Formats: sequence, structure tokens, C-alpha cells
Amino acid sequence: MSKLSITAYIFGILFFLVSVSFAIFYGYQVVTHHLPIEEKKAAAYHYHFVLVPEELDNEYWRLVEKGAKAAAKEYGVMLEYVGPKQANIEDHLKTIEMSAASKVDGIMTQGLSDEQFTPLINRVVEKGIPVITVDTDASNSKRMAYIGTDNYYSGYLAGKALIADTKGQANVAIITGSFYKNHQIKRVQGFQDAVKTEKGIHIIDIQESEISRVQAAEKAFQIVQEHPEVNAFYGTSALDAIGIAQVVEKYKKQNQYYIIGFDTLPETLKYIRKRTINATVVQEPYEMGYEAVKMMIDLINGKKVPSVIHTNTRILKVEDLPPSYPDKLEGDH
Ligand code: BGC
Repeated sequence: MSKLSITAYIFGILFFLVSVSFAIFYGYQVVTHHLPIEEKKAAAYHYHFVLVPEELDNEYWRLVEKGAKAAAKEYGVMLEYVGPKQANIEDHLKTIEMSAASKVDGIMTQGLSDEQFTPLINRVVEKGIPVITVDTDASNSKRMAYIGTDNYYSGYLAGKALIADTKGQANVAIITGSFYKNHQIKRVQGFQDAVKTEKGIHIIDIQESEISRVQAAEKAFQIVQEHPEVNAFYGTSALDAIGIAQVVEKYKKQNQYYIIGFDTLPETLKYIRKRTINATVVQEPYEMGYEAVKMMIDLINGKKVPSVIHTNTRILKVEDLPPSYPDKLEGDH
């Protein structure tokens, strides 16, 4: 064999070996690494659920997410937390629609309004995808179950607390997350019913914050300017009382106003400690998320679940916070 043919032969073998290695390497990449991440993940889970909140980055909803993720981890569920960045009904509905189209195993969301949410929830359930409402119910829809606060009762509790704390004498302004959403409507109704027989309690104004702290502060400022007779505020969504407290502190009017709000976010507790916010209605967002995932698994496995589970609700005031307690409640984890 000539020197030239030996060299050509060796090159031939080397070329063959390199080609085979490349083929094996890239073949492997296609089968494993190039698989869409979601698909790879899905293969490792028993179920794929979606939690669609009113507002993704809202601290309250992050607690619901935390609870849901803890249960998901425990029970082998792939949980997606998706929805509007800022409260927006159209985006909310679209996200539910898209989740249903991608054939997830279950959807957890709010039933914010009967007109818009009930027909969509019904269509999703009729397609065979179970829906559980969390935090806000659409009780006339075909949702399988609701878990969350009894929103009417929580408003009623707020009204009773205000009567007791103001000795039945107050001119109240209400700032609500929305005039049109089921939970906010009920929280206002419960409050109105609680105070309606009190001769010394007058509801002077009611404004909407669209669940935004900035808008709650703007509305509070406007009320302070326009209604000097107002001496009490009731905020019905998590950031309302915080917005009101900011305004009241800015104008150093803490002693002139009684404020009652909703939820136990760290900032709310900070204002309660300073006695700017006088009382708040406790909800259990972590619990809602955690239990909703467990209920969904039970439903899929054909177990009976109660159609309504009300999580605990109560009033919290500064006296209920031990002095050295972190600004976080047990249930918030
Ligand atoms: C309500 C949530 C709402 C949040 C807004 C909470 O009190 O339960 O439904 O999205 O407030 O900050």
C-alpha cells in the first residue's frame, strides 16, 4: 500500500468516526434537550393545573400562589400561575380561555362577575375541564366548588367592628376595589347591612380603586378634600386601606380618622402597629391556594368535595399582635 493510500485510509476512518460521533451527539440532543421544557416537565407530573388570579403581582395573590405551589409540590402537580399583570377583566378571561384550549387538567380562578365569567366557566366545564373558584365565587356557574372567604359575612364583620370601635358614631367613606366584581359588591353589601339600623352611622361616599394602591390613595385624598365631615374609612380590597393610610399619614390626620381594611399584608400590619389602620379583616389566601389544589385532585379522582368551603375570617387589631411578632401572620407562611 502506498504512503498516499495509507494516509487517505486513515483520514477516511477519522472522518467516519467524527461523523458518527456528531450523529450520536446531535441525535441525543434532539431527543432530550430540544424537547420543549414544559413537555419535559409535564412528563414528570401527574396533573397540570392553572391558577389564574385577578392580578399576577399583587401580594395577596402571591400568597394564594405560594399555598397552591406548596400543595402542587407535595402531590406531583405542575402548577402554572398566569394572568393579567394589572387587573384587567379581558386579559383574565383570555387567560382562562387559553388554558382551556391547551387542555390542562384543571383551572382555578375567580368568578369575578356573573355576566362575563359564568358563561365562560360553563363552557370550560362542559368541555370536561374542572373549574374551582377561589377567593371570589360565581355561584350560579357550573364550577365544581368554591373555596374562599364568605365575602358577605366578612363585610358584615367589618361593619360590626366599625360600630363597636366608633361607639356607633361615624361618617364613613368606602373605597372598594370595584363596583362590578362579586367579592367587592358583597363586602360592601355586608357592611351596609351591618350598619343600616345604626342611627349614628352614615355612609357619605363610595369610590372605586380598581384594586390599585395609587388609586385608593387618590380617592382617599379626594374624599378628605370634598367631605370634611368624613371621619372613618372602610377599604374592601387588600391595598385600599394601605392607600388610605398613606394619605392620612401624609396630612398628619391619623387621630381624625378611623380606618378598617382587608387582609394582613406586611404593610397593613405595619400601619396597624402604628394605629393608623385601626382594624382589618383577616383572610386566608395561602390556605385557599393549598386547599384548592387538593380539592382539584380529589375531583379528578372522582371523590366528592363540598361545593362551598369558607375559609376563616375574623377581625384583627393592634391588641391581637404580640409586640415582638414579625409583620407576617402564621397563615401567610
Ligand atoms: C381580595 C382579592 C383581590 C385583592 C386586591 C383581596 O382582599 O380578596 O380578590 O384581588 O384584595 O388587592
